[in-house]
Amino acid sequence: MLPTLETLSESLGGLDGSRILLRADFNVPLGPGGEIADDFRIKAALPTIRWLTGQGAAVTACSHLGRPAGKPDPRYSLARVRARLAELAPGVELRENLRFEPGETGNDDRLVQQLADGCHGYVNDAFGASHRAHASIVGPPLHLPSAAGRLLSKEVEVLLGLRANPKRPFVAVLGGAKVSDKLGVIHALLETADEVVIGGGMCFTFLAALGHSVGDSLLEPDQIEACARLLGAGAPIRLPSDITTLAPGERVVQAGVDLRPGWRGLDIGPGTAAEFSDVIAGAGTVLWNGPMGLFEDPRFAAGTKVVAQALADSRAFTVVGGGDSAAAVRQFALDRDMNHVSTGGGASLELIERGDLPGLKALRESADNP
Ligand code: 3PG
Repeated sequence: MLPTLETLSESLGGLDGSRILLRADFNVPLGPGGEIADDFRIKAALPTIRWLTGQGAAVTACSHLGRPAGKPDPRYSLARVRARLAELAPGVELRENLRFEPGETGNDDRLVQQLADGCHGYVNDAFGASHRAHASIVGPPLHLPSAAGRLLSKEVEVLLGLRANPKRPFVAVLGGAKVSDKLGVIHALLETADEVVIGGGMCFTFLAALGHSVGDSLLEPDQIEACARLLGAGAPIRLPSDITTLAPGERVVQAGVDLRPGWRGLDIGPGTAAEFSDVIAGAGTVLWNGPMGLFEDPRFAAGTKVVAQALADSRAFTVVGGGDSAAAVRQFALDRDMNHVSTGGGASLELIERGDLPGLKALRESADNP
């Protein structure tokens, strides 16, 4: 069990007049001019911030943004995030980007001490960064009474619920570019899911494992054998039966699953999109992670859109596992039709795969040693 905001308040004898260090994940997508392209991660922290300030606590927030190399880099300044946060939650302090400090990714105790200095308690609401054993995630619980924020608690409840007790049939729909990033989670999902449906760039390595020619599509040759082993073991994996391709001369061509040289598969085909939708319509629980194609290009957005719509229309408990698929449902304005859209990319996959994250372990251990 993760310590809650309520237990934190109890252990501090109430929060009125206290200062709370809040680790948030304000790693927002940035537009070409460095502007905030989507503020969903800022809004996602508001329930925790409002609860804390409502109890009379002063909040000092901290976050990373991008991957600066341990020194200040104006492209990744949190100034714009600070301005947006001030509109949404006036009075909350926000420190400068944690990754401007070399000690953040190195989990340096001096940085931890600096962060904790002057604070009475620590709240981790940075679900999207809780798979990182970085100073601001695993350090403060060693020094301060600590708790999980509302967002972190909700993410953990929903994602661990998929592992423990999903309403059946449980269908996992996976996409994205690289199968090497997802093999761990595929293995974990095959333990609990009734069917794993695979689209996106990663389907070509599976199709190649079945002996199909994939033309110029994305392929990870060193993963073919691992995919063949899974398929050979009779795992309940469903693959595309048709593909939308980009053929020489910039022609968009519908094909089956044997592609000619020079053809590049960039989306699942319409037949596959309809099959996947039928599977989703019959599910009790659906987890979706990873787009079905290059949805940023309207010529190759149809598969992702049809799958997103099928989740929106389904009566199943629907979970979108963060990253690009979460961006896709927001782009299609379908996010409100999902039961849960995770704010975590890597964190949501790692939690489903391993059942725990360094940030969660740190909070639990802090509760064991008050
Ligand atoms: C994310 O965007 O997934 C999180 O903010 C973590 O960012 P990172 O992969 O740079 O650690």
